[in-house]
Amino acid sequence: MNYKLDFIRSQFPALDKDWTYFDNAGGSQTLQSVAERISDYLLTSNVQLGASYNVSQESGSRVNQGFDFGKELVNAKHRSEVIYGSSTTMLLQQLSKSLVQTFQEGDEVIVTNVDHEANVGPWLEMQDAGVNIKFWEVNKETFELELDKLSELITEKTKLVAVTHASNVLGTIMPIKEIAELVHDAGALLCVDAVAFAPHRLIDVQELDVDFYVFSFYKVYGPHYSLLYCKQEILECIPGINHFFIGNEEGAYKMQPGNANFELSYGYLGYKDYLEACYSEHFDQSAKTFREKAVKVYDLFADHEEQLSKKFIEFLKTKPNVKIIGSEEWDKDIRVPTISFIVNGTKSDEIPIQVDEYMIGIRYGDFYARRLIESLDLMDNQGIIRVSMVHYNSLTEVDQLIQVLDQII
Ligand SMILES: Cc1ncc(COP(=O)(O)O)c(C=O)c1O
Repeated sequence: MNYKLDFIRSQFPALDKDWTYFDNAGGSQTLQSVAERISDYLLTSNVQLGASYNVSQESGSRVNQGFDFGKELVNAKHRSEVIYGSSTTMLLQQLSKSLVQTFQEGDEVIVTNVDHEANVGPWLEMQDAGVNIKFWEVNKETFELELDKLSELITEKTKLVAVTHASNVLGTIMPIKEIAELVHDAGALLCVDAVAFAPHRLIDVQELDVDFYVFSFYKVYGPHYSLLYCKQEILECIPGINHFFIGNEEGAYKMQPGNANFELSYGYLGYKDYLEACYSEHFDQSAKTFREKAVKVYDLFADHEEQLSKKFIEFLKTKPNVKIIGSEEWDKDIRVPTISFIVNGTKSDEIPIQVDEYMIGIRYGDFYARRLIESLDLMDNQGIIRVSMVHYNSLTEVDQLIQVLDQII
C-alpha cells in the first residue's frame, strides 16, 4: 500500500512551514478541517442551544452531530456515556470527586508509578476519605508494569485500578483488555488514561471492556478539549457533580458542570472528515461504516509509525553512550513512536536546545510522569529526552534528526 504522506501532510497547514515537529506527545498539529469547523460554528451558529428559534435548533443539531462522532470514535454503546471537559486532568479530578462518595474507609485503589500525574493525583486525594492507595511499580530494568505484580496487589477491598494505555515516556502499550479482566474478576473498576495512546491507535471501549477511559483532542489533531467515556451502568450509579436538579436521565450532563463546549464538540467532527478523506485516498469504497473505514486508516498509520520507530531506535542503538528508556522494540503492537532516551555523561536539558537550531522540536523533562522519573533516579539528570512522532511525520524528518543527533551525541 502506497502511503500518501503528501496528502496527509497537506491537511495540516502547520506542516507546510519550516519546522519539524517531534514533540507530538506534548501536543499534535491541528487539522485544517477541525479549525474550519470551529470557526464556522462560532461565526454562523454561536447561540445558546435548546431554544425554539431556527439558529438555536441548527446549533443543537451541530453539537449533537459532534457528540455522535465522540461515541463512534471510541465505539461507546450510548452517546450518553461520553463526557466532555476542558482537559484530561480536569475530567479525572471531576470523576474522582464523584467516585470518592461511593467508596468507604479501608477501600483500596491501585495506581501506577508510570502514569502521568493526571491519573495518579486525583486518586491519591481519596486518602483523605480513608481510602488506601497502593502503587503498581515499574520494573526498573525492563521498564515494564508486570501483570503478576498487579495480581498480587489486588484484594477483595480493591475498588479501582488506574493505569495508562500507553506511557507518555516509555511508549509501551499496556494490555488493557487483560487488565480489565483481572480487575473485573476482583469486582473493581478500571480507569484508563489513553492520552498517549489515542493519537496512534483506534479506540474500542467495548472491546477493551473499560469502565472509564479518557484522552485529550489536542494530542489527536484537534483543540484543547477532552473526552471521558464512562460505562452506562456505572454512570447511572455514581453521584453527579452538576446542579442538584440534573439527574441520571441527563446521562453525561450530570458529570459536565457548565456543559460541553459547543464549538469544540462540533469542530472535532473535522477529525472524522479527515479519517474519511484518508480512507478515500487510500482504498476503494468497499467499507460501509465509519468504523470500518477508521480501522483501515489507523492500520495504515500504525504501519507507518512502526517504520519511524524502527529508524530512530536503530540509530539510538548504534550509540554506546545512549540508553533507551523503554522498550528497544519498534513493533507496533508493543509501542507507539514516543521514544525516550538518556545520554551518559550529559544532562537531558543540554540536547534539545542544540537541536532547536535546526528547526526540529524535541524536548526533555519528566513530562509530569514525575514518579516514574524519580523511581528511575533521573531527576538530577533533568529527566529524559523525548522524541514523539505521529503518522504525519516522514522518514526524511527522522533522517534529519538523526543527522543532527549524530553530531551531538
Ligand atoms: C499520558 C498523559 N496523561 C494525561 C495528560 C494530561 O492531559 P491534559 O493536558 O489534557 O490534562 C497528559 C498530558 O501531557 C499525558 O501525556
